[in-house]
Amino acid sequence: MEQTNQTTVTYFIIKGISDLPELQAPIFLLVLLIYLITLCGNMTILLLVCLVHHLHTPMYFFLCNLSIIDISCMTVSLHRVLVSFISGDNTVSFLTCMTQMYMFSSLESNELLILTAMSYDRYVAICNPLHYPLVMSRNVCALLAIASWVLSFLEIIPFVVILSGFSCYRSNKINHFFCDTVPLMKLSCSDTSNLEILIFTEGIFLLSFTPLLLTFISYVFIIISILKIRSNTGRRKVFYTCSSHLTVVIFLYVTLFCQYLSPPSTDTFASNKLLSLFNTAAVPMLNPLIYSLKNKDVKSALRWSLKKCKRIN
Ligand SMILES: *[C@@H]1O[C@H](CO)[C@@H](O)[C@H](O)[C@H]1NC(C)=O
Repeated sequence: MEQTNQTTVTYFIIKGISDLPELQAPIFLLVLLIYLITLCGNMTILLLVCLVHHLHTPMYFFLCNLSIIDISCMTVSLHRVLVSFISGDNTVSFLTCMTQMYMFSSLESNELLILTAMSYDRYVAICNPLHYPLVMSRNVCALLAIASWVLSFLEIIPFVVILSGFSCYRSNKINHFFCDTVPLMKLSCSDTSNLEILIFTEGIFLLSFTPLLLTFISYVFIIISILKIRSNTGRRKVFYTCSSHLTVVIFLYVTLFCQYLSPPSTDTFASNKLLSLFNTAAVPMLNPLIYSLKNKDVKSALRWSLKKCKRIN
């Protein structure tokens, strides 16, 4: 089926991370390990925030949202590697492929929006502490969270509409480990200029650059108000309340821009796929670690619940 002008593609073949047969088992184990670490870490965050009363703040509710996004994102992007290894079947139907692409892009964009909402939360907490309970009320937080979810799932629809309209494919072998927009676009022999324009305008400017700008503006105000604090310990204390969030934000945007700016050459697919694996795996896996290692609240909550567990046993 390769290299012929295919008018209708009913299924795709996912090539996976590597073609080499001897690498299949190590890759499977690596991905399984990454997946389990991500699942454990994010489940721990979800449980802690549910159980520990002093973590019932907007910041940690948003963190829960982030954990759910991370688990889903990783499941969408990596489950194929695991399933293919076990079943030996690496085909996906056209519909599944489009759904996968839609879910992954929506979740990724949602992650940026939730992180932006979190930076607004930090801005209000630090620059406007007296009004914090009023401004970040339960309703406002719920509204921000719902808006992020709805918006991110709406804004990816144009991408799917254009992509699913492509009728001509050079081949049905996707050289990637899941159905993602760019690998799919590269396979198509239909006119992709509309999709390229959409990726540049909406994908990069609206969906990535706007959240980055809003986050950046929040942090400019945060830094200005931190610099106004006289005492060094006071400064450190206030900075501490946003350091985990800042670490996650920097980490996410750096990996995102590495992905966008990596040379789009088709022959170095192996290294592109590794980079993409790093991007899809590293952020969801490390988010809970960053939050629990850098955060006194989470650490003490963890210790408290472990103690409780011991007592029950
Ligand atoms: C997401 O965040 C909102 C706003 O803080 C919160 O009300 C909601 O419970 C969170 N959802 C989950 C699943 O944690």
